[in-house]
Amino acid sequence: MPDTLPDLTRDGLPPALRVLVEEYPREAWEAHPEFAGLVQFWLERHMMFRKLGDLLQQDIEGLIDGGMGPRDYGGRLSRFGGMLINQLHGHHQIEDMHYFPALKGFDPRLERGFDILDRDHHEIDPMLHRFAEAANGLLGRLDAPDGFRDAAGGFYGEVEGVQRVLARHLADEEDLIVPVILKHGSGGLH
Ligand SMILES: [Fe+2]
Ligand SMILES: [Fe+2]
Repeated sequence: MPDTLPDLTRDGLPPALRVLVEEYPREAWEAHPEFAGLVQFWLERHMMFRKLGDLLQQDIEGLIDGGMGPRDYGGRLSRFGGMLINQLHGHHQIEDMHYFPALKGFDPRLERGFDILDRDHHEIDPMLHRFAEAANGLLGRLDAPDGFRDAAGGFYGEVEGVQRVLARHLADEEDLIVPVILKHGSGGLH
């Protein structure tokens, strides 16, 4: 029977992949001696992605309810949307090429979790591409009153979609990887 990996509609990591995070619960991460350095840096990157996602969501809400003008909105969308896409793209590449291979072998019970995270990246990247296209479509309509409302409403759905999959991926990735590093060290990564 083929082993199908859960996609980003899942509610979290399957229980078999949560064995190490049960041993190293989130509340205890920061006080662990291995936290400073790689774990802290990497969690800060994730926090930045969450913040950018929140900003994009607040801004599109502001545009739709009229609190933010189209010109201001356009500038912020170009800046923060571009930042999210570029930074995430680079982040996934580093994880795929360096982090995952270095950390995957530490605990054979968790190997399947790395396959799930890798699969997530392959699901998220085309979503980001679509997001960029939708953002450009909206930017092209900001000065045209006709169709602007529909475009903004459609783009709101794209922002929500990206927010949802990112929240799932980042949380599961942290639950899988942080306990591995706390227990085994960073495997030469820095
Ligand atoms: Fe990732
Ligand atoms: Fe990540």
